[in-house]
Amino acid sequence: MTHSSDLRARLDAATASIRARDSRTPDIALVLGSGLSPFADTLVDATVIPFPEIAHMPVVTVPGHAGKLVLGRLPGVPDSPVIAALAGRVHFYEGHSMDTVVFPARMLIALGAKTVVLTNAAGGISPTCRPGDLVLISDHLNLQGTNPLIGPNDSALGLRFPDMTRVYDPALRALAQASAHAEGTELREGVYVALTGPSYETPAEIRMLRAMGADLVGMSTVPEAIAARHMGARVLGISCVTNLAAGVSATELSHDEVEHTAKATRDRFIRVVCRTLAAIGKADR
Ligand code: HPA
Repeated sequence: MTHSSDLRARLDAATASIRARDSRTPDIALVLGSGLSPFADTLVDATVIPFPEIAHMPVVTVPGHAGKLVLGRLPGVPDSPVIAALAGRVHFYEGHSMDTVVFPARMLIALGAKTVVLTNAAGGISPTCRPGDLVLISDHLNLQGTNPLIGPNDSALGLRFPDMTRVYDPALRALAQASAHAEGTELREGVYVALTGPSYETPAEIRMLRAMGADLVGMSTVPEAIAARHMGARVLGISCVTNLAAGVSATELSHDEVEHTAKATRDRFIRVVCRTLAAIGKADR
């Protein structure tokens, strides 16, 4: 069990190890989901810091997830905001504590990022979802059975009982919508439900989740969104629908399918995210 005072010391050590390599304050933190890590390699004026070189950063184990922080600017965007991109994510199903799962996002907010953009690969529950769709997260259901804020609260970081009425910032969503439109991509909105995984859902579970109001299902994002709101950062969430959820189509699910669709959708996803980040930077100036 790690404690809140210890959390502040770990955040201080982690941000110090980043600042020693690059003194820029990031404007936007970007967490890249399954198959989307290559976005980090498109950044220019970049400083690349492997996770093991950052104090207290957890080790990433899932195939398809590299582990590095890239600080840099958007290519071809004059006055680009400074982006801190995490290529590689830690998941609860890997056996990490929730505290560890949200540490990288907290670290980038502690470094100065006021906005956190969370991306993921998700299964499509809604009958209108198609693999390859990009969906803006409008709200979430936390069904991971725990909460990253459980434990002593450090009031210097945030409130004991933070509000979650608008986790996914409406103004950021409007910027993302406009950016996708400009890229010629439709960006629908949906409710994302997080389960622990790592097994995929059963068809009965998917019917239950649909009845509960979920449009997308995945194993990440929600803890980071809660921790980011706790620290007062604005949050935007974008899912790439990599597969239809279990039972929605007749086929079985595999991580290969998830990675394959994420890869096939990657370029469009990167263009939408890049334009959205540029728009956020512009709106904040
Ligand atoms: N379920 C849970 N997580 C996922 C899925 C899914 O169908 N697809 C990608 N991540």
